[in-house]
Amino acid sequence: MLSLALRDGVRLRALEVWHAQEFAAHLDRAREHIRPWVGAAFVTDDVAGARATLRRYGESGAADGARLYGIWRDGVLVGGVMYVHFSEALGSCEIGCWLEPSAEGQGLVTAACGALLDWAFTARGLHRAEWHCRADNARSSAVAERLGMSLEGVRREAWPYEGRRYDKQLWAVLAPEYAHPGG
Ligand SMILES: CC(C)(COP(=O)(O)OP(=O)(O)OC[C@H]1O[C@@H](n2cnc3c(N)ncnc32)[C@H](O)[C@@H]1OP(=O)(O)O)[C@@H](O)C(=O)NCCC(=O)NCCS
Repeated sequence: MLSLALRDGVRLRALEVWHAQEFAAHLDRAREHIRPWVGAAFVTDDVAGARATLRRYGESGAADGARLYGIWRDGVLVGGVMYVHFSEALGSCEIGCWLEPSAEGQGLVTAACGALLDWAFTARGLHRAEWHCRADNARSSAVAERLGMSLEGVRREAWPYEGRRYDKQLWAVLAPEYAHPGG
């Protein structure tokens, strides 16, 4: 199995259709924690829904578009990161992330997103990586900042959730600005 060691006991690898059962069990642990902050279509509530998400990303990845990766800590799927969008033609991508509560506060997502930025900028020659989040999602904004992204603007009331509309932040980093870990 191809996977990348992020640190001792923590691995990043493609999250694929065959993980549907494991992904659904993880979502059971993560659902209420992530629901306010991620796209509604991502928060499915059974194995069929989880499989549909994995299949959608798998098909998109096969077309060199969006891709999904899981973070396994001590063999347990605890979260993940994704290219929400990936376009070689435009030279840009958007990165997203989530964790179940037990995995917060350990730097796992910052490390995993660093791997995605490395691949996008170094292996694929992209120029720009974006990060979109609810403006009141302080933990998400903090990840964008740790990745060296700049806040480029706020789309006012662009995020509807449970009858209210929230502002949405747009963060981004350009390839020449990105400080490669250890480099
Ligand atoms: C957004 C989210 C993934 C951020 O998780 P996180 O654990 O705060 O982010 P990281 O994995 O980068 O970890 C950073 C934290 O680990 C700590 N940390 C520990 N070791 C670290 C290390 N080696 N490197 C970096 N940070 C480390 C940092 O101090 C920070 O903790 P603090 O904020 O309490 O100071 C998480 O809050 C989440 O899943 N939220 C719900 C879903 C969501 O909002 N997704 C994003 C949608 S835009």
